[in-house]
Amino acid sequence: MLIYGATGYTGTLIVHEAARRGLDFEIAGRNRDKLAMLAADFGVPFHVFKVEDTEGWNSSLKGKTALLNIAGPFSETAAQAMEAAIQFKVHYIDITAEVDIFRLAESKDEAAKDAGIMLMSGAGLFATYDPLAVYTANRVKTPVAMRAAFNYSGGFTPGSVASSANIINAGLLVRKNGELRKIDEAPSAAFDLGNGAEDFSLMPLGGVVLSYKSTGIPDIEEYFKIATLPDAAADGAITFEAGHPTAITKGRSQIMIEVTDEDGTVAKSVADTPDGYMPTVTSAVEVASRALDGSFKTGFQSPASAYGAELINSLLDVVVTDL
Ligand SMILES: NC(=O)c1ccc[n+]([C@@H]2O[C@H](COP(=O)([O-])OP(=O)(O)OC[C@H]3O[C@@H](n4cnc5c(N)ncnc54)[C@H](OP(=O)(O)O)[C@@H]3O)[C@@H](O)[C@H]2O)c1
Repeated sequence: MLIYGATGYTGTLIVHEAARRGLDFEIAGRNRDKLAMLAADFGVPFHVFKVEDTEGWNSSLKGKTALLNIAGPFSETAAQAMEAAIQFKVHYIDITAEVDIFRLAESKDEAAKDAGIMLMSGAGLFATYDPLAVYTANRVKTPVAMRAAFNYSGGFTPGSVASSANIINAGLLVRKNGELRKIDEAPSAAFDLGNGAEDFSLMPLGGVVLSYKSTGIPDIEEYFKIATLPDAAADGAITFEAGHPTAITKGRSQIMIEVTDEDGTVAKSVADTPDGYMPTVTSAVEVASRALDGSFKTGFQSPASAYGAELINSLLDVVVTDL
């Protein structure tokens, strides 16, 4: 596997996790000094090139099975990295939550199928969210609508701040009757994820593309809030050091999926996860390790369209509860 963008906050954690799991990998990015240091720590080869450098992709992807792209904002890197993966016939996996990147991956479905590769954008947050959507949809007979609420506990790195701007600029996307639609005003909605009702704001996290792919549910809305921490946990909660979150929080994040059946029955399930970026780290490496082991579906895939609801059971410290 090649890990591109390995020297960022999340990339470095992913390199540690990939090494802990004994995966066979090399690292890449655009900063020689940072790459040389990280490569020395792990005794792995490194490749220095910019995303638009086809020769860089050619030499670094030779002999590889998968490309894990961690360099974000993905609006700057995904198109080039996906094209390289298709051209050099290696599976593509990234961890974005930028909805336009999911649409880009969707548009390359045929090209990825022709190349015999899996194109999976969103193996971070969505490795929990999307299998939970399939799991909850399976609890009713004919699911017709889905709402997701994400209560995030943690900080934001510079890469995430830049990505958040792309998420916001994409507009207020919802899925209605199977079509993506932009709405004018962001409604808020109250959800009870186990600690009493709280207000969330509408935000297209990406399930409007990914979980439509995995569940086919025609109406999807997504909501987001940043967790309110109990006083004890708030002490030093979201602090930044050199632009990176440190001692992120002592809290947990939750994702709730609510699915409505055509007969009006509502099923709700919540996934409780560690805070911050660790769920993304462990799930991205889990998905990459599956692809390296030959477990994949060709073409554009979401985490659950490739691996089903079962994927959530293999994630570290994720607890699912039916409400
Ligand atoms: N959805 C999720 O679950 C989830 C979770 C965590 C992170 N993420 C996303 O993952 C991305 C990385 O996050 P992070 O925490 O690692 O951020 P970070 O610490 O700010 O690091 C960003 C990394 O991307 C590289 N990069 C940025 N623009 C690039 C470009 N144009 N060409 C090549 N490399 C580029 C940077 O390289 P330099 O060092 O050379 O600048 C650095 O290695 C962000 O988009 C973030 O939103 C998503």
